[in-house]
Amino acid sequence: MMMDGELAGFAIPRLGMGTMALAIEGRPDRDTAIRTIHAGLDAGVRYLDTAWSYYLPSEPGTGTAKDLGYGEKLVRDALASWNGPRDEVLVATKTGYRRTMEVPAFVAPVSDSPESDTQGRDSEGCSRRPGEERQHLQAAGSQYGWMADSRPETMIRDAKESALHLGVDTLDLLYSHGPDPAVPYEDQCGALKQLLDEGVIKYAGISRVNNEQIDLARGIIGSGLVAVQNQFSPSHPDPEHTMEHCAELGLAFVCWSPLGGFLDTFDQSAYDPFRTVAAQRGCSYQRVVLAWELTRYERLFTIPSARNPQEINDSFAATQLQLTQEELAMLPC
Ligand SMILES: NC(=O)c1ccc[n+]([C@@H]2O[C@H](COP(=O)([O-])OP(=O)(O)OC[C@H]3O[C@@H](n4cnc5c(N)ncnc54)[C@H](OP(=O)(O)O)[C@@H]3O)[C@@H](O)[C@H]2O)c1
Repeated sequence: MMMDGELAGFAIPRLGMGTMALAIEGRPDRDTAIRTIHAGLDAGVRYLDTAWSYYLPSEPGTGTAKDLGYGEKLVRDALASWNGPRDEVLVATKTGYRRTMEVPAFVAPVSDSPESDTQGRDSEGCSRRPGEERQHLQAAGSQYGWMADSRPETMIRDAKESALHLGVDTLDLLYSHGPDPAVPYEDQCGALKQLLDEGVIKYAGISRVNNEQIDLARGIIGSGLVAVQNQFSPSHPDPEHTMEHCAELGLAFVCWSPLGGFLDTFDQSAYDPFRTVAAQRGCSYQRVVLAWELTRYERLFTIPSARNPQEINDSFAATQLQLTQEELAMLPC
């Protein structure tokens, strides 16, 4: 079927499910989250996307990262309690990012920090060297932010923890979550290569990258690199043409925040043409957006979030929506 594709050794529908919105701020209760994943799997989803960093950071001064591993354990438990073919489901996770409070946390030396444990981790579960400061990346629409910590030792340690959280011996597909300005990109790629060589992961991916970083990663990781996960949607149209570069290299392109995201604000007018087509079709504009994305590249995978079963059912129906030439002419090319 046209909407199917190959990724990391799995022949699966090219519409998967991002599980970030089930695990971070704004998340539904755990039962609803499990039901939402089950609904996606029952509909036909065979790719679940998670990350080591899909959890909520603790409040300052509480001393422990209260729900480190929440998102990955949610995926594990949803799969364990699902009555379908678990071995058909590709589970991808990411390493090299962590959550943080809005105020940069890495000011005090580790030894002075009441929130550090014996492994030199702070309350969000991130290791650091004494006195080290790192870049605070964003805190979009939330009191919490994200921070890259992609030192090879952190990436490798967290990847092994991800396998424990997910209850597997080997990770199907592990992405480097994003470049870390404090770490040469070669070193991050070297960590993925080491994880491949050690058999911790079957395949590697990279995320939030430009074409130069894709080439660098390919040179270091070789054929073990199978996917690039970058932002792509009508409101975020991939200005650096990384999708085209993936097509030239035969890499899968996985688009994150394919509906614009759920915490960030974005240009809603970019979705107006999709609303017009959707009104004619009598379906949600989100379904039209996802169907349009699937036409962009035959190895494009789209991974919308959902916070309830209805949304993922609605989104997955995009795999059955064949847009006509007339409709495509109304949409961005
Ligand atoms: N690599 C990275 O750095 C990175 C960054 C961001 C995201 N991601 C991945 O990409 C996935 C998706 O991105 P995202 O969570 O930012 O946002 P998204 O998929 O663009 O979805 C945004 C929101 O749209 C709403 N929605 C979804 N399906 C719908 C439907 N059929 N009808 C109506 N509304 C619908 C939901 O919000 P409501 O519940 O409010 O309706 C959802 O949270 C994440 O889960 C994660 O796996 C990766």
